[in-house]
Amino acid sequence: MNDRVLIFDTTLRDGEQALPASLTMKEKVQIALALERLGVDIIEAGFPVSSPGDFQSVQAIARQVKNSVVAGLSRAVDADIDACGEALKVAERFRIHTFIATSAIHVDSKLRKSQDEVVDMAVRAIGRARRYTDDVEFSCEDAGRTHIDYLCRMVEAAINAGATTVNIPDTVGYTIPSEFGGIIHNLFNRVPNIDKAVISVHCHNDLGLAVANSLAAVEHGARQIECTINGIGERAGNCSLEEVAMILKTREALVGLRTGINSQEIYRTSKLVSQLCNMPVQANKAIVGSNAFSHSSGIHQDGVLKAQNTYEIMTPESVGINKNTLNLTSRSGRHVIKHRMQELGYQESDYDLDTLYSNFLALADKKGQVYDYDLEALVFFDQQKHQQ
Ligand code: KIV
Ligand code: ZN
Repeated sequence: MNDRVLIFDTTLRDGEQALPASLTMKEKVQIALALERLGVDIIEAGFPVSSPGDFQSVQAIARQVKNSVVAGLSRAVDADIDACGEALKVAERFRIHTFIATSAIHVDSKLRKSQDEVVDMAVRAIGRARRYTDDVEFSCEDAGRTHIDYLCRMVEAAINAGATTVNIPDTVGYTIPSEFGGIIHNLFNRVPNIDKAVISVHCHNDLGLAVANSLAAVEHGARQIECTINGIGERAGNCSLEEVAMILKTREALVGLRTGINSQEIYRTSKLVSQLCNMPVQANKAIVGSNAFSHSSGIHQDGVLKAQNTYEIMTPESVGINKNTLNLTSRSGRHVIKHRMQELGYQESDYDLDTLYSNFLALADKKGQVYDYDLEALVFFDQQKHQQ
């Protein structure tokens, strides 16, 4: 089986719909171009029927992005699909992504239709989207809570109707990895035409399992992951792009799968999205949080100074961060202080390490983190004392 996992980014659709204030068209284009540079395979640019502004943004992105497929979202209704087709037709390569809910909860309470009617609507929608493009994705909304028999039936019908990608969303982030992996496994065993389409997954993070569920899915044969930068999206967000990309890169020898992501663009893209979306990244966020490559314990600091991989499973440079940071606190050892003084341009003869270290500990006990300017001040005051 092919080992390439496609990355479908929905920062501008699922991510954007969860923001308190919408992005401007210029900001959306800026993010789309950053995603293209990052090596995203498919960029979901928006939901064209939702507003004239969204239509125009999708169109502008479709015009400017050349190296990624540009996708637009539509419900399984004609007006949505036509709006997608219209907005996207200026693109070099585009995809129409249409969806309908398949779980009993949604079919009965939201759509108020029979299961047969919902299959018919999906088949019709896919057929209509195929009039515009041969790249059509169909999503079974709330697949995570859909009965497996009905899910198999829907996936088979969608592929027969011409869907080239079939997406299995865990819309409400309810499943756990063994269960979600099992759903994908079942689809591969039970749907006769499954090899005619790419199976995709779209996991939400309500239980903090979006990344783990996506990983379980690709281990069972899915070959597209839908995700967002910094994991932004509805409620607790979506699967985080930087996390899945770095899992597959760092553990490639074990998992045996790869993406086309240019990992050195990750940090830059994360910062851009955080700033434009006004969504700060938590300090301890994997891969892109400000603490992701910073070491505080003296034992760890000593370890990374001797060999970086003692406490780093990937290098900061591999995600586009200049270097790791060693936080100077009362847990830091003499070795780290000496190293930092060297980095600041001091020779060992410029200061007395024993004195500096004991002054440093006294200060660290009072103020917590000690900064470079504190160290330089300690050296300066000690030199002054000796000159008097
Ligand atoms: O979470 C979801 O089910 C979605 C679909 C529209 C793919 O965002
Ligand atoms: Zn979603």
